[in-house]
Amino acid sequence: MKAPFEFLGFDHCRFIVGNAKQAAYYYQSVFGFELVACQGLETGERETASYVLGQKKIRFVLDTPYHGQSVLNDSLRAHGDGVCDIAFAVDDAEAAWKFTTERGARSVREPSTVTDEHGTIVSAAVRTYGDTIHTFVERKNYSGVFWPGYEMAESALRTEPVGVKVIDHIVGNQPDGQMEKIADFYRDVFGFHRLWTVDDDDIQTDYSSLRSIVVADDREIIKMPINEPAPGKKKSQIQEYVDYYDGAGVQHIAMLTGDVVSTVGKLRQNGVEFLPTPMTYYEELEGRVGKIDEDVDVLADLGILVDRDDDGYLLQIFTKPVQDRPTLFYEIIQRKGARSFGKGNFKALFESIEREQERRGNL
Ligand code: FE2
Repeated sequence: MKAPFEFLGFDHCRFIVGNAKQAAYYYQSVFGFELVACQGLETGERETASYVLGQKKIRFVLDTPYHGQSVLNDSLRAHGDGVCDIAFAVDDAEAAWKFTTERGARSVREPSTVTDEHGTIVSAAVRTYGDTIHTFVERKNYSGVFWPGYEMAESALRTEPVGVKVIDHIVGNQPDGQMEKIADFYRDVFGFHRLWTVDDDDIQTDYSSLRSIVVADDREIIKMPINEPAPGKKKSQIQEYVDYYDGAGVQHIAMLTGDVVSTVGKLRQNGVEFLPTPMTYYEELEGRVGKIDEDVDVLADLGILVDRDDDGYLLQIFTKPVQDRPTLFYEIIQRKGARSFGKGNFKALFESIEREQERRGNL
């Protein structure tokens, strides 16, 4: 089934956070984002303070409520800080909304047009898993910095980009037994296809296990792995997420870099906490993935993981959760041909995650 509109990429991720002003400092100083726009009391917006951060094609929007009666507080109470909207850039937002709602997506916002001196944005939104939504953004007739109503902003903080350039994929965790249903939803409603799957046999450490299906649009610009817990001896890391996020939600955002060694080096200098990789991982590395361009000692020093598939190889690393609840984290990924998601690393990675889970008393 061919959708009558094109996905152009991830337009932005919108977060609801407890203190957007401070979160904006975090993404600037630690992840090298630039503050590009904001909205709030000073711009005439009375309900929500909002900060837009950018790095190459990656755009994060951080929202926080001004008042106790704001509906955003429901999200904060249930989920803590997290991603509320995975917004897609499309060539025709009205067609996207019509196509998806006709196929069973629940509408959040009908197509609407907003205009300022920089042009017009057409947008609409539909629900997906948990409380998460997808906004369709059509910005071909807009040249402003983000959205009508936002003003350009400049930060007093001087930050250096770390080299991430585009969102590679965004992963959604589901409660037990929901993964197939959500993967089917993306097939039936968005016209996505299954790109890749992981089942219990692929990933089982002594304790936790997961299942994963990656769905993608025709051109594989939007890639979204959908996870669910699988039974193991102890609690799955996916179940831990679902318990702390109070349901389905975004587990990690993978940001693509052209030079993972440089990016991870900068992030480590900025104080990012990555999941530790056991040294034994590197002893077996060349036997498993063959010859690679990078110096294995450098990768070991930075804790970067490597995996190979039929098309090439990839390098990746995962941060620890970036808020107190063990929910959202980030992946930094460099692809050298590989189109998959690092199945060969899951075991090493999960053992690392489980050690962290054990420290939290949640294993
Ligand atoms: Fe990932």
